[in-house]
Amino acid sequence: MEMAPPTAEWWRQAVVYQIYPRSFADSDGDGVGDLGGIISRVTYLASLGVDAVWLSPFYPSALTDGGYDVDDYRDVDPRLGTLADFDEMTAGLHASGIKVIIDIVPNHTSNRHAWFREALAAPKGSPARDRYIFRDGRGLDGAQPPSDWASLFGGPAWTRVPDGQWYLHLFAAEQPDLNWASREVRDDFLATLRFWSDRGVDGFRVDVAHGLAKNLAEPFEPLPVTEHAGAAFAPGTHPLWDRDEVHDIYAEWRQVFNQYDPPRVGVAEAWVHPSRRTRYASPAGLGQAFNFDLLEANWRCGEFLRVITDDLADTQQHGVSTTWVLSNHDVVRHATRYALSAQDDLSSIGAASAWLLSGGVSPEPDRGLGTRRARAATLLMLALPGSAYLYQGEELGLHEVADIPGDRREDPVFWRSGGAEKGRDGCRVPLPWAADGPSFGFSADAAHLPQPAWFGPLSVQAQEHDSASTLALYRQALSWRRKLQAAENLEWMPGTNGQVLHFRRSGGWQCMTNFGPRAVPLPHGTLVLASSPLQEGLLPEDTTAWIVAPVTDATPGQSSLPHRTGGIPNGTDTSRSRGKGVHGRRESRRRPEP
Ligand code: NOJ
Repeated sequence: MEMAPPTAEWWRQAVVYQIYPRSFADSDGDGVGDLGGIISRVTYLASLGVDAVWLSPFYPSALTDGGYDVDDYRDVDPRLGTLADFDEMTAGLHASGIKVIIDIVPNHTSNRHAWFREALAAPKGSPARDRYIFRDGRGLDGAQPPSDWASLFGGPAWTRVPDGQWYLHLFAAEQPDLNWASREVRDDFLATLRFWSDRGVDGFRVDVAHGLAKNLAEPFEPLPVTEHAGAAFAPGTHPLWDRDEVHDIYAEWRQVFNQYDPPRVGVAEAWVHPSRRTRYASPAGLGQAFNFDLLEANWRCGEFLRVITDDLADTQQHGVSTTWVLSNHDVVRHATRYALSAQDDLSSIGAASAWLLSGGVSPEPDRGLGTRRARAATLLMLALPGSAYLYQGEELGLHEVADIPGDRREDPVFWRSGGAEKGRDGCRVPLPWAADGPSFGFSADAAHLPQPAWFGPLSVQAQEHDSASTLALYRQALSWRRKLQAAENLEWMPGTNGQVLHFRRSGGWQCMTNFGPRAVPLPHGTLVLASSPLQEGLLPEDTTAWIVAPVTDATPGQSSLPHRTGGIPNGTDTSRSRGKGVHGRRESRRRPEP
């Protein structure tokens, strides 16, 4: 029998559903999602079949950066609820077998945090200022910022305070960077980890995990505006990103995590070279790290093959598990990325940014194609070994909303760039729960970001009883995934080529994706799920199928496999007997495209 993962490592192959709380469900009619809204949808989350939820920040915040500007790490924004609501939500999710991961934002506080207020009121050189990164300016009277570094959100990374000093903020001016060389800062975060772990939180998603340790020895070197360490520095030595010392911080966090049963887990948001990622995911560190390589890949067979083989090789070499992500609250939804015609010189993310700037009209997205490919990509991702992160609304096949009027936009990326970047509001538009009504069932009133009319037909209500819907596909996929889950590896099947990816997990679970124009035969076995209907028994373009085939080797576990056909979207042809199977990113890759 395949061994179930030990409970202590429940996360290794978990499906985690990201909730962006202000846009998930609103229980009190103010147009902003809240914890009561999540409580009211626990049944929905359970019916989806996810193992855990990750909540983006719900802390008190002025919302300069959607809650990633935290005023108080140990409280709930009163607009979203109370600590009692949080406890009720956690209890409800746990009772449904769903674990809870919360976002922790250690690189920066908000400018309304008690510490930052104290720092502003305190003199130069005071302990209160030493919790942040204050420096004198350059030039006459220190009127020039200490360096020419730019914020990732646009504009300078330094802001001057009334007594003439400057403070560092790699993101918005309202997000002052903390000084992680300070013992007090470190201890306070350990206390925050304990605070939430004591309340039953199972894990932490660590925002900007690669940014905490900094080398701020002067003179400061000019640096490009990027979250990547880049090739100009030896690995681990960039002044701002992915420094080796950052792992000393996570070793301390691990000591706290291991005081709980099961041990708490962290998942690093670390935009680092794949070869550096596994250190964040080490058992001596956080345990998991986001792998954004699929999210950055174009919908091309060769790119997907390369990402999957490289990432599995990296993680296997280091004995850690991997994660997969196609969408989150920071990027254009994958249904829309795949709806844009691929441009050779642009990654899918780059092409999507250009498309957003055009107001969502150039190129004209082919939504049907995007949805078809997104379903195929998701089914492929869910068959891979490791953990999969889903973003709220992708189970409805939601597309990006591109035409949000400027005066309704919330993202600092839009405001700080003077509109030169559209920002991330288009994937944060509140979810449609009902086919009509005010804000499509999200709230009793209008939603905080405007929803387009086309949300109605994509609502939960509209899809709930449609077995061909994207919602039904996700439910079926998660249910089958639980039954078929196997050891954390895969075997590429003969015939994987420039058009088709075909792999097998132990126990006989096979996944085949056809990226090319020619429909191809499926391998021998029982078809359990397909992302789009078959064509005369063949797997058509932009379609993924899961097949359960009797294992021919001595792999144990056959007895637990289902031997029936089930969960096929309407119109899927399962009647045929199946023949033999056929089959930009930023830094270097080891394997050429086939
Ligand atoms: C990464 C988060 O995902 C993003 O939403 C946020 O703006 C930045 N970190 C800054 O906290």
